[in-house]
Amino acid sequence: MNKFIGEILNILKKDKRLFSKDDNKLLKGELISLISKDDEKLLELLSSNKEIEKRFFKKIGKITIFQKENFLQLITMNEFLPDSFTAFEISIGLSNNKKLMASQEDISLVFPHKDCILEGGQDKEDAKREEIFFNTTLAPDEVDRLKEPKVLTNWKKFDSKGERKIKEVSKNDNLVIKGNNLLALYSLLPSLRNKIKLIYIDPPYNTGNDTFGYNDKFNRSSWLTFMKNRLEIARELLSDNGSIAISIDHHENHSLKFILEEVFGADNFIQDVIVETSSPAGFKLVNPGPVKVTEYIIFYAKNKKTYLPTEKKLFVEDKTSEVYSEIITNPKEKYTNWKTTSFDKYVFKKLEVENLKELKKKYNDDLAKEIFNTTKREMAIEYADYLFTTYKPDNPSKALLEKAIESKKTPNSFIEYSSVNNSIYYLKNGRIVAFYKNKLKEVKNKLVPTKHLTNLWTDISWSGITNEGGVLLNKAKKPEAMLKRIIELSTNKDDLVMDFFAGSGTTGAVAHKMNRKYVLIEQMEYIHELPEKRLINVINGDETGVSKDVDWKGGGSFVYTELLEWNNKYIRELGSAKTKTDIKKIKARIEKEAFYKYQIDTTKFDNKEFDKLSEKEQREVLADVLDMNHLYVNIDSINDATFAVSKEDKELNKKFYNQK
Ligand SMILES: C[S@@+](CC[C@H](N)C(=O)[O-])C[C@H]1O[C@@H](n2cnc3c(N)ncnc32)[C@H](O)[C@@H]1O
Repeated sequence: MNKFIGEILNILKKDKRLFSKDDNKLLKGELISLISKDDEKLLELLSSNKEIEKRFFKKIGKITIFQKENFLQLITMNEFLPDSFTAFEISIGLSNNKKLMASQEDISLVFPHKDCILEGGQDKEDAKREEIFFNTTLAPDEVDRLKEPKVLTNWKKFDSKGERKIKEVSKNDNLVIKGNNLLALYSLLPSLRNKIKLIYIDPPYNTGNDTFGYNDKFNRSSWLTFMKNRLEIARELLSDNGSIAISIDHHENHSLKFILEEVFGADNFIQDVIVETSSPAGFKLVNPGPVKVTEYIIFYAKNKKTYLPTEKKLFVEDKTSEVYSEIITNPKEKYTNWKTTSFDKYVFKKLEVENLKELKKKYNDDLAKEIFNTTKREMAIEYADYLFTTYKPDNPSKALLEKAIESKKTPNSFIEYSSVNNSIYYLKNGRIVAFYKNKLKEVKNKLVPTKHLTNLWTDISWSGITNEGGVLLNKAKKPEAMLKRIIELSTNKDDLVMDFFAGSGTTGAVAHKMNRKYVLIEQMEYIHELPEKRLINVINGDETGVSKDVDWKGGGSFVYTELLEWNNKYIRELGSAKTKTDIKKIKARIEKEAFYKYQIDTTKFDNKEFDKLSEKEQREVLADVLDMNHLYVNIDSINDATFAVSKEDKELNKKFYNQK
């Protein structure tokens, strides 16, 4: 071990709080926590050592500053107790600007104006720089009123009669909320804490891609902060038997796993699913190495002990399964008289040939095999009750073993065996008889051979989803069939499902068709063109996606509302401002109505200098003076005349926030 590290450890030993009483090992988490809180006793102890003082304490005049970041960096290094492979060390990868994600309380806000900026005629490089400007990270001391619930406005209800204003809102309403999801989630917390059974999200994958209408290019640390902020509150919203499922791809799935482990705990991991999203074709083949055709869904429970997935054993069609080979020819008689033959004979009879050789004379080899196999699979469903195979009992009880020995004495007959729980089995030649009917299950309203659902999903088609729900979302839409499976796995009828990266509203549409309740959150203006329109289509009996599988006929309703914007509207408008004249008009309104950051001294604002700035710089300066705590109107300001909240909205907010 490095001598200096040894010295630090010796010094730390003087603080009993830092060592486990059981095995006297250093409690790294405790050390970090005390360092983060500037614990006086610990700082005194550290500064008492000359070497530590020299390296981590800086004197400026009469003031001494502890260089906390540097110290944290050192103790998170692998050399510092390399043998203790603790959860803490695992999270080393998740340091953000040298601060550990676990101990970091920054908040990342994200604004969606990339497209507008591109339309403004800028080249790609400019657009990339804009991204950084619009992803704002706030340090804890800048977060003041951000997390308080917000005023909701523009309430509307949609049902089969169309759209109308409302006077009532009930906890049974499906909700579609427009606004920044972090702030919307905080607004939902008072009424939905511990109430949500399933949260499915499909966040920006951080692909660095320009082709989406929303931000998908964060630097990794902003993305991590962005996700951590939202996952922490998602966890609070989940019920004790609730779970979360997150779509992600190779860009961030490893970082995401770290955050999930931190927020939900490693013990609550349920499963990673690999989803086949496409087949190798076209341009993808140009890339070197294996072709990427998959992405992932990561499942975590809020509390694995109370999460009950076993109730939900799902089956999927097994297209490659072998059809059983023997059939009982006289099933109506008592089992003791049952006779058997090869099932192939039935198939040849139907095909009016004696054997495969004869069939091959009629067709070529491959076609004959294909015809034979297809006919056999179809007939197997029809004869499933009498079609069987046999298998050797695994770990048999004494009674079963005795029956098996008895059965071997008359190898061509069936004998009966009744298990301890009174289930009836048949044995033939010492082996258990399995009927093909037990392999069949109804999938998509059709009886088919099945197997247990695994964590490899290759059976969901992505190719025909463009028109699902009657709305388009380029490249980002998920298949309804995938959402159906996720919802089936984790919820029952009437359970509450949430998606706070709603996009085109796939989660809401499927939840609606499957009689679950739902809450969707989406920030973009296209909320009206996409999820809202899609859910209206669903109410009106949308026939696409999973409609046939769930026998969807239409009906139901949802309520739309949005966070009442304040500073957010200037950021939104600045994003789409194309000329300096546009910016000037927004500036005038900001001067009149907006809330500035407390550090801003408006008397020092130099208008002449401002005029000389480029459009991009002007937008940056203006966005930078706005207080992020006032993006939307806080509920405790609802009666403030500045915001002119209508009487109806006041009433609805009161009802919404008071519902239990
Ligand atoms: C990948 S898309 C979701 C697609 C969706 N699963 C579907 O099937 O249509 C991600 C969505 O999250 C939204 N989003 C990203 N950041 C957000 C934020 N901070 N608040 C609200 N919505 C956000 C984006 O605008 C985008 O529509």
